[in-house]
Amino acid sequence: MAHVTRRNFLGTASLAAAGAAMGPWVRRAGAQAGPVKIGLVLPYSGVYAVLGESITQGMELVFARENWTVGGRKIEMIKEDDEMQPPVGIRKTEKLIDSDKVDILTGPVHSGILMGMRDKVHNSKTILIVSNAGADAISRERCSKWIFRTSFSNWQPNQPMGEWVAKHVSKDVFIAAPNYQAGKDQLGAFKETFVPAGGKLVGEDYPKLGETDYAPYLTKIRQSGAKAVYAFFSGSDAVNFVKQYDQFGLKQSIKLTGAGFLTEPDVLPAQGKSALGVITGHFYTPLLDNPTNQRFVKEFQAKFGGKMPDGFACQGYDTAEVIVRALKAVNGNTQDKPKLVEVIEKSEFDSPRGRFRFDPKTHNVIQPFIYIREVREVAGGINNVPIDRVANVTDPGTGCTLPRPPPLPLWTCAARPGWSRGDDPQRFRGSACRVICLRRR
Ligand code: PHB
Repeated sequence: MAHVTRRNFLGTASLAAAGAAMGPWVRRAGAQAGPVKIGLVLPYSGVYAVLGESITQGMELVFARENWTVGGRKIEMIKEDDEMQPPVGIRKTEKLIDSDKVDILTGPVHSGILMGMRDKVHNSKTILIVSNAGADAISRERCSKWIFRTSFSNWQPNQPMGEWVAKHVSKDVFIAAPNYQAGKDQLGAFKETFVPAGGKLVGEDYPKLGETDYAPYLTKIRQSGAKAVYAFFSGSDAVNFVKQYDQFGLKQSIKLTGAGFLTEPDVLPAQGKSALGVITGHFYTPLLDNPTNQRFVKEFQAKFGGKMPDGFACQGYDTAEVIVRALKAVNGNTQDKPKLVEVIEKSEFDSPRGRFRFDPKTHNVIQPFIYIREVREVAGGINNVPIDRVANVTDPGTGCTLPRPPPLPLWTCAARPGWSRGDDPQRFRGSACRVICLRRR
């Protein structure tokens, strides 16, 4: 046994004491030395595979710009294919949280998968930045302090379109969407303003997600007396629906309109001239002339073999931008999750879609604009040309009661007799309100 002198006993004891005092800090420093792990639950196969690919590419563009190192730590993306199946998406989410111990989770594309993931994410206090799935409930009765959404709620691109279609296209409309939550949400939002604007629904149909033969539905549309169709389809469903609509001879007589996903650049090359004239609502088009978007389109095309970025790539870009800014704000320390939530909530930057910010009441993005776009042949090929727009489209957030962050006090007034606290109106911005002391009269 080593002989313990008074000197080395004191040395050991004080080191131990210092260690005890520094313990959590030392442990934290060690644990934070590894990479920041970002888990992606996305479809890399199936109907929405092209969406998963675009979202991933948008993220990679931002992380590559940062040399894959932020706040002193490497960025590691762990990609999982949810195969568009809710049970698979939930299993992959559990694996990323429990085994990989990711710092931040992102995805999914499918609203049903998001609803399935929600409780695991919420109960494990994992930060999820939703990069596509629009399930309205996630900004409403199923909202969570730990969940943010950079993409859209299903309500956002569709609600402005109801009134617009009734006013500018037709009042006799047939509506169609795949038979699952996003389809119901999106058409529900359209109806919300279409009917009060005097619109009449002449028919409504919900083919299965992944339908390849729309002939029975197109026959119904032809027989319905509709003057226009409003549709939500995406990925390979959008390719099949738009092409078959044209092949069926409906394009000339019944105007096709819908949610922007119907004619995004991920599907436009496959749709070709069948998409010309289709009118849709969306928060993005690569034709936006703001400088951030011009740079984004140029860099995206250079990195991905000339591919035109779509709204999904913009969602991936914004998701990564939120992550990068948050990691810089906390110096790469991802252990203090409430702090990370606090900095994410305050994200504000120039995105390709315009000024990006979250609604602090719901953690859902406020769309600077929903553009009404028409597919036309323009200089760069077939694209969505903006013809009108609606500003500041914010989900109503009905039923969401997120804890409000406390105001940030500059100093308190309790110790100063004759003075009381008041919010400084000059400094008030969103939830971050600062306190001034007012002399009581
Ligand atoms: C969804 O399931 O929420 C969803 C999927 C594809 C889209 C938009 C929304 O293009």
